[in-house]
Formats: sequence, structure tokens, C-alpha cells
Amino acid sequence: VKLPAVIGIQRALDMILTGKAVPGARAKRLGLVDRVIPHHERERGQREFVSDVLAGKIPRAEPGLSLRDRLIEGNPLGRRVLFALAAKGVREETKGNYPAPLKAIEVLSRTFGAPPDEAYRIEAEARAELLVGDVSKALVRVFGLSQDAKRALPESVLEAAIEVNRVAVIGAGVMGGAIAEIVAANDTDTVLKDIDRGALDAGLRHAADLLRKAARARVFTEEEAGLKLARIDGRLDYEGFEEVDLAIEAVVEKMAVKKHVFSELETVMSPESVLATNTSSLSVTEMADGLERPERVVGLHFFNPVHKMPLVEVIRGDRTGDAALATAFRFALQLGKTPVVVADTPGFLVNRLLGPYLNEAGHLLEQGIAVEAIDRALLDFGMPMGPCRLLDEIGFEVATHAGREMARGIGDRLAPSGLLDRMIEDGRLGKKNGRGFYLYEKGKSTGVDPSLVDVLGPRSGQLELSEIRDRCLWPMVNEAAWALEEGVVDSADRVDLAMIMGTGFPPFRGGLLRWADDFGLGIILEGLRGLESQLGPRFAPAPMLKELAERNGTFTHPS
Ligand code: NAI
Repeated sequence: VKLPAVIGIQRALDMILTGKAVPGARAKRLGLVDRVIPHHERERGQREFVSDVLAGKIPRAEPGLSLRDRLIEGNPLGRRVLFALAAKGVREETKGNYPAPLKAIEVLSRTFGAPPDEAYRIEAEARAELLVGDVSKALVRVFGLSQDAKRALPESVLEAAIEVNRVAVIGAGVMGGAIAEIVAANDTDTVLKDIDRGALDAGLRHAADLLRKAARARVFTEEEAGLKLARIDGRLDYEGFEEVDLAIEAVVEKMAVKKHVFSELETVMSPESVLATNTSSLSVTEMADGLERPERVVGLHFFNPVHKMPLVEVIRGDRTGDAALATAFRFALQLGKTPVVVADTPGFLVNRLLGPYLNEAGHLLEQGIAVEAIDRALLDFGMPMGPCRLLDEIGFEVATHAGREMARGIGDRLAPSGLLDRMIEDGRLGKKNGRGFYLYEKGKSTGVDPSLVDVLGPRSGQLELSEIRDRCLWPMVNEAAWALEEGVVDSADRVDLAMIMGTGFPPFRGGLLRWADDFGLGIILEGLRGLESQLGPRFAPAPMLKELAERNGTFTHPS
């Protein structure tokens, strides 16, 4: 109610609908604050400000609107258009899944220019309605889970952490460049090392681009971006590594290469320093084999794109010591990420749960269901992209490799359908070569590839969108039950947090297992049994799921 009167409707909408805060200087320009006082002058500044207020020298806040904006906002028709456009934008952005922004627009439209008492009453009623709604409850829970995640390790373990002042990132590829960027953005010195001059230059360029983008988005200024970039030292050798506290390897996904890199690091770094791996599928325990001090090895698994995905899986290998574990955990927090400690089992947590979900998309395609229908079903559910589109992003070679590794280590239920092999044989690798399920031009999807019919055959299958959704999500819930049973992660809450922060699982659903609880574990159990008899043992329910469903329990509600 107050904001539009102070800074104008359009600017107020901008802040209210996004929940974005504005920096001091911009707040002053908007007329949101009367005066900005530099930190070092705050005492004198505050005194002067107070006396100016008392002397009546501070004029009443008025939105400093341009003539055009005054004309639009000042008449009922103009306002109606503004609110309608804003609501349309919100619906596109949220797909109608988040009620608060639409409610805010409604409140603004009903209260602008209304007598204050009536306006505040309307606002209070709207807020009360939202607060007790399901979405609000789900989001508050997710916020609580992200706060709890910071306290996942006991103080006795945390205090073993070493201080990290200097980081090395080994391998300047897609991940290495981006990891170096967030380390530097956090004002920590980092060495980015590769063995190939061209790769190193590309990695440094990638980091510089990301910093520039952050400056453009006003996360920090251009000048600060320059200073942060200067913290990255690109190298082809190990000079200065004796000063490095934490090395994060992000070289090619090959055990022999990673072991070789760790053995080299062991000779150039101090014995107390920590060796972390960003591997997405290899065993952290095996990677430490042959080292003099295997207890210094830990997994630090970032998600792509690194600057956007909040999750970091901190992987505890069989011999990982408290110092390495605590250092990795603390460092992830220092970077503003959400760390989740997971066991060293194939696929760790998030990729393991994505496995059956993505595989099922393959099985559905084999069954004649259209790419559009599969992706639509999961987009409607609230996933940031459908599974076919996600497979394109991951790349078919990486996806089949990861699927096979997980099937080998965990069980046949995780085996991919043969579909991706046929796609690869047909010269399709996903987005990276512009040919996946979708076609791409300059990195942007231009729609589903019509020539897919040559690989997939005609699309004659018929399933309801809700059936497609359940086929993909139920096995994911089932796999989470297996993972919990094996102790991959310590609680169902942690599974929910990891899936939201690592895959963009829709927060308004509260997380994978909260969604399953609300959907009904009994229904999912029966559903899985039906699919098992119809389509095979990959749907066989996990013991924990059976046990919970049969006693009317839940994963996430306190019993
Ligand atoms: P990439 O192929 O883009 O980069 C690998 C880089 O390592 C190349 O620049 C290569 O020149 C360099 N390299 C190879 N041997 C080296 C050595 N001995 N010393 C120093 N540098 C060396 O690979 P990408 O995609 O960045 O993946 C790196 C690691 O991160 C892999 O373990 C991968 O599984 C993991 N990962 C990848 C994700 C992704 O989405 N791409 C997501 C999460 C983890």
C-alpha cells in the first residue's frame, strides 16, 4: 500500500513482484529513502539528518515520475492496463503456481488512492489468506530446510576445518572456469590450472564473462568485477601451490587422470591442505587410493551452471577425515552455496534420483510418446525444463555413461533404455552439437527436431499428461527411498532440499518427498506395483516406501 505512493506504481511493482532489494544509491534515486550516508560518516550524518527532519527541511516523499509515467499512473484506464500487463507477465513467469504476486497486483489495483484504513484492511486480509495457504507453507518449510542445512555438521567436526585463503582449481573447462569465478567473486585468491594453453584461456574468458554479467546485473560494480577477476591466476604449472589451502579438481571424468592429478598435488601442496574432487560419477574413495594421506580427499560436487545452482554435494569418502569434510562444507557455505553431505555411492544423491526420471523419459519415447507431451507434463508440474530438454542439456554421452555406471553400482533398475545409444549413433549428442531432441541455433532451442522420426519412429503412443508425470516421478520417489535406506543422505528433508537446490524441483511443491507425502504414499505404492506388473521390475517398490505406505506414515511429516 505504501510503496506505490512513494515511488510510483511501476517501480513499486518491480520490487514487490520480485522481492528484490535495491542498493542504497538506487533507493535514493527512486525516492525510497531521503538520504544515503556513507558508512564512515554515519554518526555526523545521522545527527544532521535528524535535525533536518526536526527543522522540517525534508520534503514529503513524492514519486519523481516522468510526464509519461504520470499520465499513465494518474488515470484509471492507464492503471488498469499496467496491472493487466503485470499480471500477464507474472502468469508467464510463474505459470500460475505462485499466488502471492497475483494477489499483490490485485491489492495494488484495489487500494491505489483508497482511504488508508480501507487500503490497510484489504492488504491485511490478502496477506492472511496467503500466509495460511499451501504454497506459503511449502516455501517457509524450504527456507527452514536451507537454514538447517548450515547446521548439518556437529560443532566437534566443524572445528576441524582449516582456514581457506587460497584455492586452486585444476582443469579450466566448463566447470573449472565457473568454479574459479565464484571463488574469485567471493574475494578469495584462486589459481586456475590446466595443461592446455587454449583450454586455460577459454576458462579465464568464461570466468571473466560471468563476472562481467554479474556486474551488469549489479551484483557488484564494474570496478569490483575487475578486482575480483585479478584474483584469478591462470597457470600451466604448479608454481605457488605450496600456499594453496584447498584444491578442487575439475579435470576430465577419468579415474586415472584424476588420480594422477591428486598424486601431483600431494607433492606440491602442504600436508594439511585439502584435495577436493568435482567428479559427478566416480568414487571419491577410489580416487584417494595410493595417496600418502587419503584422509585429505573429499568430494565437492557443484552443479551446472555453477553460478546459478545453489547446491553443492559434499561427499564423504570411506577415509575422508573430519578436517577435509569440515573444510569443504564450510567453504561451500562461504561461497553462499547450500552444502548437503552425502555418502560416496554411485551418482551420490541428486544424479542418482535424476537417473530413473530421465531413463523413464527414454522408455516413454520408446513407447511412442511425443517429446512435446513428455516435456509438457513435467513443465506443467513445475519443473524448470522437461526431461527430454534436460537430457539435451546434459549431453547424451554423459547421460548414458552416468546411467551405466549407476546401473553397474546400484542395480538394473537404473539402466538407461537403449534410446540414447541410437541417438548418438545418429550423430545426435544433445545441445552441445546442436542436435538433440530439440534443434539449437546459437545455443537457443528452436523447437523439437522433426527428423527425430527417423530414429524414434512415428509418435503413436497415447498417455494422459498425468500418467506421464507419474511414470517419471514415482520411480524418483522410489529411488529416494532406496537412497535413504542405504544412508546416502541423513533425512528425507535433506532429499527435498537437495532436489530443489540441485535440479530446480518446484519449491512450491515443498520438495520431492513432501510432494509424494501430499500425493499419497499409498497411491504411489499401488501405482508402482501396477507399473511393475505391466512394464517390469524397474518399478519394484523399495522396502522403506512399502513400510511407510502400509502404516500410513510419511517421509516428511513428523510422526
Ligand atoms: P571439460 O572437458 O569441459 O574440462 C576438463 C578440463 O580439464 C579441460 O580443459 C582439460 O584441458 C583439463 N585437463 C585434462 N587433464 C588435465 C590435467 N591433468 N591437469 C589439468 N587440467 C587437465 O569438463 P567439465 O564438463 O568441466 O567437467 C569437469 C569435471 O566436472 C568432471 O569430473 C565432470 O564429471 C564434473 N562435472 C561436470 C558437470 C557438467 O555439467 N559439465 C557437472 C558437475 C560435475
